[in-house]
Order: sequence, then structure tokens, then C-alpha cells
Amino acid sequence: MAVNMKGKDIISIHDLSREEVDQILGTAGILKMKQKLGEIYHPLKGKSLGMIFQKSSTRTRVSFEVGMWQLGGYALFLSAADLQLKRGETIADTARNLSRYLDGIMIRTYDHEDVVQMAKYSSVPVINGLTDLLHPCQVLADLFTILEKKRKLEGLKLAYIGDGNNMAHSLMFGGAKVGMHVVICAPSGFEPDPEITRLSRLDAARTGSTITIQDDPRAAVETADIIYTDVWTSMGMEEEYEQRLKSFSRYQVNSELLEKAKEDALVMHCLPAHRGEEITDEVIEGHRSIVFDQAENRLHVQKAIMALIM
Ligand code: CP
Ligand code: NVA
Repeated sequence: MAVNMKGKDIISIHDLSREEVDQILGTAGILKMKQKLGEIYHPLKGKSLGMIFQKSSTRTRVSFEVGMWQLGGYALFLSAADLQLKRGETIADTARNLSRYLDGIMIRTYDHEDVVQMAKYSSVPVINGLTDLLHPCQVLADLFTILEKKRKLEGLKLAYIGDGNNMAHSLMFGGAKVGMHVVICAPSGFEPDPEITRLSRLDAARTGSTITIQDDPRAAVETADIIYTDVWTSMGMEEEYEQRLKSFSRYQVNSELLEKAKEDALVMHCLPAHRGEEITDEVIEGHRSIVFDQAENRLHVQKAIMALIM
């Protein structure tokens, strides 16, 4: 039975029901097939998406813009530096103005509260394109990619090695929602936000999965089906770069660490990667790495999201 998602904001996977997540993944599969077959499909003809970026982006910008175009709609790139937001216009006023022109808003920003405010004042659906707290579109694409490769999600174990950041948080929410065990392996002082841990454990209890926080990479990757990593220094934390290199030096995903993992374990990274830091060249180029499939699937999954909510 299809769930009606028209008008729904996509701010956090925690806010989605299991049925909604399944519907996004199922729709993504259909849209991916249509695109591979060269079928023209324009459900968003005449509709526009505004994309506000306060931070840099390669994948998010291009996949949303091209995705919107493939669905028959139009996407506008709005650099926050060029909007009146920069000169003090409020998020609430920006949301109410943009809602008069657009059919959807995607926003990438620092403070998660900005996305929440945008959604509160917007009359069109708002999509979180990454905040300091969460990156839901990335993890929905990751779940789709894992499902493609492993043919299931429930009962798998994903070990995330690195910073307890926006990616770690969304992986906890995503894993818990679909019944995948998630281990976050972070050095002391860089653990995930306790509130995200608490909320994801509530979901995990419902789906029979577990959310574990620990600090030993070798133990974390044992029996893992997926090994995931992300940059040690996220956007906006650049002044901590040198200190973080030291704090995370034991947390590199390299060939030696992979020896401890399952034979068929896959390696994932949301990209951009800092090769030689959180992951070695050898591993990211190796046969277990599926990082470019993940990147491609941003397109298909975000098309599904837009087609369902706009
Ligand atoms: N993974 C991801 O969101 O990439 P971009 O920062 O390039 O958009
Ligand atoms: N944690 C990273 C993810 C980039 C897609 C950052 O926020 O910079």
C-alpha cells in the first residue's frame, strides 16, 4: 500500500516511518531502472526546486540539479552568500518568500535549527541537504546501495570508524529504522551526540537492531558487513584540523584493518575523501569499495524523494 508523502519535509530519517523509507528506496529502484532504459519520465513538469547552499558541494548540488531536470522540473542554485540571508533577512522570511515561487526547497547549512525553521515557515516541502547534525539524503542513498549489493538490510552490521559527526548520526538513524546493527567507533571526545544515540536506540529497539558506541577499530570491524568512514574534519571545523589528525590517527580504514573484517565486507565513504587520512588510496580503490555507486545513487534516491514529496 503506497504511503502519501506529498508535502512532507525530509529533515531527519528519524522522522520517517519504516514504510516511508521503504517507499523511497522502492521508488528509487524504479527511477534508476527507467533512467538506465533511457525512458523519459516527467512527473515534476512545471515544478521548481530552490537549492540553498551555505557550504560547498559537488555531489549534492549536481545530483539534485540533474535529478530535477530528469524529472521534467527546474532547479535553481542559490548560494547563501548571494541571498539576502547574508545581509540579515531571517530564515522565516526567506522561507515564506521562496514558498511563493517554488515547489520545494533543499537547504545545506551549518546549524540544524535553520533547516527546522525553514520547514516551519515554508509552505512547500523542505529537504535537508546536510547540516552539522545530519545528512539524511546521503544515508537514504547508502541504504539503497547496501540493499542493491547485499539484497537485504535487516540483520546486517555496519561499522562506522571515525568522527561521531553528521554522517555517524544519520547512519545511526537509518540503521535503526531498517533493522541494521550500527557500531560507531570513535575516539574518546568524538562520540556521537547523546540525544541522537538515545533516539536511534528507541528505533533500534523496535526493529530488533542495536546501536553500539565504542573506541576500538579492530573490534568494531569484526563480523561487519559494511565498513564506513568519513572525513575527520567536517566542513566548518577546519581550525581543528591539526588536532584532529592526531586524535584520529588510530582510526584509519586501511588494508591492515580490513584483514580483521569479513571476507565479503564492503567499504563505503560518503565522499569527499581525504585519502591518506581516514582511508588509504589502496582501500578506496580496492575491490571492496563501493564509493562511486553510493555517489551515483544520490541521484536516483533524491529523484525518488522529490517525486514523492513535491
Ligand atoms: N557526500 C556529499 O554530500 O557530497 P558533497 O559535499 O559533494 O555534496
Ligand atoms: N561530515 C562531512 C560530510 C560531507 C558530505 C562534512 O560535514 O563535511
